[in-house]
This record gives sequence, C-alpha cells and structure tokens, in this order.
Amino acid sequence: MSEITTARPSRLTSAFDIPRAPGLTWYVQAQQPVGYEVSLTRGLLAPANPTLAKAVGADSRDGVRTLVVVDRSVDELYGTALRAYFAAWQAEASWLVMPGDEETKALEQVVEVTRAMTDMGILRRTERLVVVGGGVLMDVVGMAASLYRRGAPYVRVPTTLVGQVDAGVGVKTGVNHGTHKNRLGTYFAPEATLIDPEFLRTVPARHISNGLAEIIKMALIKDADLFRLLEETVAHISNDTLADCGSDMSEVVSRAIAGMLDELEPNLWESVLERSVDYGHTFSPSLELRADPPLLHGEAVAVDMAVCVALAVGRQYLAEDEAHRALALVSAAGLPLTHPVFTPELLQVGLADAVKHRDGRQRLPLTDGIGSCVFVNDITPAELARALEYVHAFTERVDGPGR
Ligand SMILES: NC(=O)c1ccc[n+]([C@@H]2O[C@H](COP(=O)([O-])OP(=O)(O)OC[C@H]3O[C@@H](n4cnc5c(N)ncnc54)[C@H](O)[C@@H]3O)[C@@H](O)[C@H]2O)c1
Ligand SMILES: [Zn+2]
Repeated sequence: MSEITTARPSRLTSAFDIPRAPGLTWYVQAQQPVGYEVSLTRGLLAPANPTLAKAVGADSRDGVRTLVVVDRSVDELYGTALRAYFAAWQAEASWLVMPGDEETKALEQVVEVTRAMTDMGILRRTERLVVVGGGVLMDVVGMAASLYRRGAPYVRVPTTLVGQVDAGVGVKTGVNHGTHKNRLGTYFAPEATLIDPEFLRTVPARHISNGLAEIIKMALIKDADLFRLLEETVAHISNDTLADCGSDMSEVVSRAIAGMLDELEPNLWESVLERSVDYGHTFSPSLELRADPPLLHGEAVAVDMAVCVALAVGRQYLAEDEAHRALALVSAAGLPLTHPVFTPELLQVGLADAVKHRDGRQRLPLTDGIGSCVFVNDITPAELARALEYVHAFTERVDGPGR
C-alpha cells in the first residue's frame, strides 16, 4: 500500500478540507495470479484413469468428499459410469442433477447449486465442486463457485463440442437475465478443465455443427492451417469421428483450443475490447434473440460470420475465392449462411448493440486474409446491405433460388 501525499494547503480553504495530516488517501494495488490446466484426455471415466481423481484430491486422501453437478441428459447416459468412477476412488460424492438447457440458465440455478454446497457443508479449500455438462451447466456452476464464500475451487468436465472448445476453456461464467444472454456473470477460473472427446459420441448432430461454428471462427481469424484441415475433413466430421479422436480430429480440436487460449490468456478480463474471438459475435446476439424457432448459438454465429466474410470482401481484406471457400466451409459444416430475420435493419440494430457492449466503438473483427484478423470502426449501413446481398447471391448460386 502506498500513501498518496498531496501538497497540504497552508490554511483550510473549504469546509470539506480535513485539518489533519499525514496521509488522507491510500492507493491499494494487488495482483492475483490465475493458473489452470486445460487438458485433452481419453477414458476419463475409466476407473484406472487417475486424472479426475487427482483433480478432486481423491488420489491422495481417503474418503475425500466432492459435489458433482451433472447435466440431466449426461446423467442419463454416463451417470452409472460416473458413480462407479468415484466409488472406485473412494471419493464420497454428493450428486446434484440439473437441466442443462438454455431456458433454465438463470440465477435460480446458481442459487440451487450453492444450496447443495451448504447442505453438504463443503470445505472451503480442499473439497471441490465438479461440473459435468455442456456450456450452460458449466456457466451456472462456475458462477455458483465464484459466489460461494467469494470463491470455491471447481473442476470442469465439458461434454459438448461447444463446451470442449469454447465454454470450458476460458474463465467466464454467467446466466441469462431478463431478455439478455449472460447478462449476469463473473470471471472465475476453474482449477482444471478435463476434456474427453468420448462424451461427444452421444451429442446430437446439430450440436456438433454448433460447436464447429466456433472452430471455424478460430480458423478464419487466426489459423490458416486449421482452415485447410477443416476443408479436408469437414465431410467426415461427426460425433463418432470426434469421439474416436484420430490424428486429424485431435488436431482440429487441439488447434481450436490452443488458438482460443492464445487469444484469451493475455486478455482474460477483457480489458481490451478488440477481441478477435468476438468474430461472428457482433450481429449474432440480435439474431439469437429474435429467431423463431430458436437458433443455436453457433448457428447464429455462422450467419454472422457469413456477413463478416462479405464485409471483408467489400473492403478487399478477402479475395473472392477465399470468401467462397469460407462460405462453403460454413455450409459444409451443416450451418446456415442466412436467416429470414437477418435484414439490413437488424444488422444495424445488432451493430448498435455491439457498439454499446464494446464501449462506444464498433471494434468489428474481420478476416484479413484467411487466418488473420483486423478491426474496423466505420462500417456503414450501405456496406451491411451489400454484404447481405453478397451472401444471398452466394447461396442462390450454390443452392439455386428459393431454397
Ligand atoms: N463461458 C464461456 O466462455 C462460454 C463460451 C461459449 C458458450 N457459452 C455458453 O454455453 C452455452 C452453450 O453450451 P452448449 O452448446 O454446450 O449447450 P448446452 O449446455 O445447452 O448443451 C446442449 C444440449 O446437449 C445436452 N448434452 C450435454 N452433453 C451431452 C452429451 N455428452 N451427450 C448428449 N447430450 C448432451 C444438454 O443436456 C443440452 O440439452 C450457452 O449458454 C453459452 O452462453 C459460454
Ligand atoms: Zn460463441
């Protein structure tokens, strides 16, 4: 702590001055190191695999306790294996099974988790919370962990593709509030994120495409090699090939995670608002709010990315053939390029909202060639309209009119 000294007036000049020295203002500065491991592993639930047991401290102490919060669908599929695993390591697990759907992602869920922590009487440092589920449940449990006694250790086991390459990798937690997505939340790192692609075997195909949107995003803004690898493999990407995790798929997933961490690590608390990982996340929140039937997050991101590809062509950041390859990849991943709700007017609304979120400037990430990123602040309504026309012309050429 340092004391801020200011020149003391020789006599009192206003009724607000305090006639007493020495220091009257103190400046406090502290730093909190953040460290956590994200690891890709196989057979996480095999009783012989110590990874998860180590993460909760069950490999070194008898009868260690832990609170395991599991997504309801995951519990139906993997509940028996999960319980057998903790029993094999003689960990005394308490179980909380919760829904993992977007509609239930609210503060009440966070409170429910904290209630279970209280009921169990979880110790403050040595007993861990474990979350096994997709992005929704990880965000909920992460938030509960950050609030409980102002911070309790937790371990994440992501079970969806979005969870494994995105939500499980960074430090953000949160819940929806009012009509806003993730409006309440915290930054709170887990102790570890343990990723086992085997969980992806049971993820519905639509949710695989959903996760691919975030992987394509990383390729477009950061990793030209990943882009080429995706072009070569996209036709074969499925929940089974991802779960088998052969050399191509493990490279796809690990490049996506590494790229994401590379972007997040120097800006964990988002003090810099020019974030390349916001690519595809400028117009998509407005679309996600309005689409009926609802779109998955990655589907809205895909439609947003298509517009951004076209905007980049308009600014000559991207050549025509690169743009066509980008749009073709998004489409081949089973993702939409357009949506009826996505009009020039909505794009303007979305951009205006993003400007508020980004503290007054557009800070719009665009591809600067495939695999790198540039930020722009002066996109006009006319450019937005032209970009939309470009994407529509592309889809009509590929699919024929009126699809
Ligand atoms: N914190 C972050 O940085 C961050 C980043 C990206 C996304 N998110 C959040 O993540 C959420 C989306 O995550 P998501 O796409 O994983 O959705 P999700 O958590 O809703 O899971 C999708 C569906 O799959 C089911 N499921 C989960 N694992 C399964 C498995 N192995 N087999 C079969 N079914 C399974 C779930 O029950 C759910 O119905 C959003 O709320 C988003 O805001 C957060
Ligand atoms: Zn996203």
